[in-house]
Amino acid sequence: MAREQVEFVQAQDLEWQPDPQFEGAECKLLSLDTDTGARTQLQRYRPGHTAEGDNPLCCGEEFYLLAGSFYLNNFEYSAGCYGYLPAGHARQRLFVPDGAVLLRFFDHLPAPLSTDPDGATARAEGREAIACLDSYRMSWDYSVHDIKLAHLGFARKNLRIDPVTGQRTFLFMTSPQAHPTNYQGPQESHPTPEEAYQLHGDLTGHVGTMYAGAYFWRPPHIPHGPFGTRGGSLSLIRFVDGAHVNIWSKEAHAFSYQQPYQPVLPEWMPVTSQSTPGENY
Ligand SMILES: [Fe+2]
Repeated sequence: MAREQVEFVQAQDLEWQPDPQFEGAECKLLSLDTDTGARTQLQRYRPGHTAEGDNPLCCGEEFYLLAGSFYLNNFEYSAGCYGYLPAGHARQRLFVPDGAVLLRFFDHLPAPLSTDPDGATARAEGREAIACLDSYRMSWDYSVHDIKLAHLGFARKNLRIDPVTGQRTFLFMTSPQAHPTNYQGPQESHPTPEEAYQLHGDLTGHVGTMYAGAYFWRPPHIPHGPFGTRGGSLSLIRFVDGAHVNIWSKEAHAFSYQQPYQPVLPEWMPVTSQSTPGENY
């Protein structure tokens, strides 16, 4: 399998590693496509980090800033800011004054543009950059209705819909004290991979309770849920390589806030500890 299931890992349980793709930066690799090099990772830059000139990549990238700030292409990004840069797009004058931690979603190996200019051209076809969205300045969309998710009291902020594949990236919030009616409900699945990074709160599902810093990559057609939360939750979710479609099971499955943690993790993932939930990176 090109990109194995990761469901779920608390990022706090992974160690920062030197990033072979970005000199002077550290990473926590969260999921990896071993065929293409596509990956999702946390990236940490130390205070004072700089990269002069223009350093375009041969891959497209979505990113969301968790902490700190940085400058790139004459924009200032702070916590909650999102951007999308297609393959080959300019990346001028990176400067990280006080350090930064960000989530990065690469659609191919993040290598310099010069290593694969033709591949970059193909990957960028039909796609435009989103220079900067400050998600704190966006309003929640409460109009999305799926009756089988109504118990979550959820809302959404769309960050990006890919014009080629229809894939969607969005923030997803659930209200506190939410669980399926009578503690049971159907499971959902999707025809595309789904991945999520939890930014705040708690969210309990079939694999246990995710807290801030939880990450999953779920390949297509794996049933999941039902879900509930005690304190509410905020996650960044992506449906990858296709439109977001919910397929529901006919039978009901039990929900429990006490669901034990039963992760499915790839062999390469070096989980070193099980931490106390707290920081979101
Ligand atoms: Fe789902």
